[in-house]
Amino acid sequence: MKTRVRQGIIGVLVITTVTGFMVMYNNTSRAPSPSSSSQPEAGVILEEPPKRSTTDPITVLRGYKSFVDQKPLKMHCSSCSLVSSSGQLTGGRRGEEIDRAQCVIRMNDAPSAHFQRDVGRRTDLRVVAHSSLPRVLSRRQELLNASQDTVFIFWGPSSSMRRDGKGTMFNSLKLVKRLLPRHKLYVVSQRKMLSLDELFKNETGMDRKGSKSWLSTGWFTMSLATELCGSINVFGMVPPDFCSPASNSSTQRPSVPYHYYEPRGRSECSTYLSNERSQKGSHRFVTEKSVFASWARTHPIRFQQPDWTPRSPAPDAMATNTSDTRQLQPVPDSRHTDVQINSQIDRQASRQVNR
Ligand SMILES: *[C@@H]1O[C@H](CO)[C@@H](O)[C@H](O)[C@H]1NC(C)=O
Ligand SMILES: *[C@@H]1O[C@H](CO)[C@@H](O)[C@H](O)[C@H]1NC(C)=O
Ligand SMILES: *[C@@H]1O[C@H](CO)[C@@H](O)[C@H](O)[C@H]1NC(C)=O
Ligand SMILES: *[C@@H]1O[C@H](CO)[C@@H](O)[C@H](O)[C@H]1NC(C)=O
Repeated sequence: MKTRVRQGIIGVLVITTVTGFMVMYNNTSRAPSPSSSSQPEAGVILEEPPKRSTTDPITVLRGYKSFVDQKPLKMHCSSCSLVSSSGQLTGGRRGEEIDRAQCVIRMNDAPSAHFQRDVGRRTDLRVVAHSSLPRVLSRRQELLNASQDTVFIFWGPSSSMRRDGKGTMFNSLKLVKRLLPRHKLYVVSQRKMLSLDELFKNETGMDRKGSKSWLSTGWFTMSLATELCGSINVFGMVPPDFCSPASNSSTQRPSVPYHYYEPRGRSECSTYLSNERSQKGSHRFVTEKSVFASWARTHPIRFQQPDWTPRSPAPDAMATNTSDTRQLQPVPDSRHTDVQINSQIDRQASRQVNR
């Protein structure tokens, strides 16, 4: 009964957001703001971003399909800055360094405006979770309309992509497509979603569905980056044991917020630990980080702010299968078309929407 009510409320919220989007957009598009010139913020040193040259190799990323014409994403970056949303970034003044990469990748509704000194200014690619889409829509002017050149990648369970009017993400994306027809909107294919589940299982020995957890947007983004980028600098991601009570790295430093743009929000370590321990409907942030650390042993991935290098394989790491030292390969599309698995994902997802 309770969940019924909650779903009802969420439904109303979604509808309100979407309707608000239409109304607001109509208003703003009738009166284009004169201040929409790209004036840099004071105090930010601007450099020309490195342009993608036409001779760069182009990678065809088959798991990422255009929402407009279903064609796979074609893109390659020799170097990437993957900017986390962590409070670790605050005060680090890494913005210029972040913008020096050929591609800058951000997640969900993480903003750059007002935080440029610490997180940089550009966004070449933004990976957005179905559950974050309403937040992106509510700040559409900043995150969507002003980012014509950004490639957007949306991920969500197949239920959110239903075409019968009940797929919340599908409905919102249809609207975005209509309002911003030139935007580069892509979705993670359902086959790729399953393949990323399988990758999690291969790397950790844990079954994602069995452990009733959700892959995080960080997982989708990191695995995409390993296919897309020649090298990756990850900014703002702590090592896997950072928050562990046994390590004193977290107790020696002040706790930081989970999101740099929500300074009064929950703390990073308590969010990671409570999710890791939670029985269901959570993200395995710590486990995922152990996997990323293991990828960095065989892949040009560096972690900065805080700066750390993965330890050589030791029998310590949380749930990581450290005996597995094979080269990280681009994730092949899984051949699964298991409808049952899909619907299971969906049932879990519908409970998870907009937590
Ligand atoms: C939003 O983007 C569209 C084109 O993509 C543009 O025509 C419109 O003026 C923009 N709206 C505002 C308020 O900047
Ligand atoms: C997982 O491991 C199996 C067996 O080694 C392999 O065939 C499969 O391609 C792997 N899947 C992914 C997504 O890495
Ligand atoms: C760890 O990886 C090795 C080699 O890939 C495999 O034989 C072993 O079963 C894996 N262990 C777990 C717990 O998944
Ligand atoms: C904890 O901090 C102390 C003092 O800085 C250091 O000597 C010790 O090695 C640290 N312990 C762990 C487990 O990192």
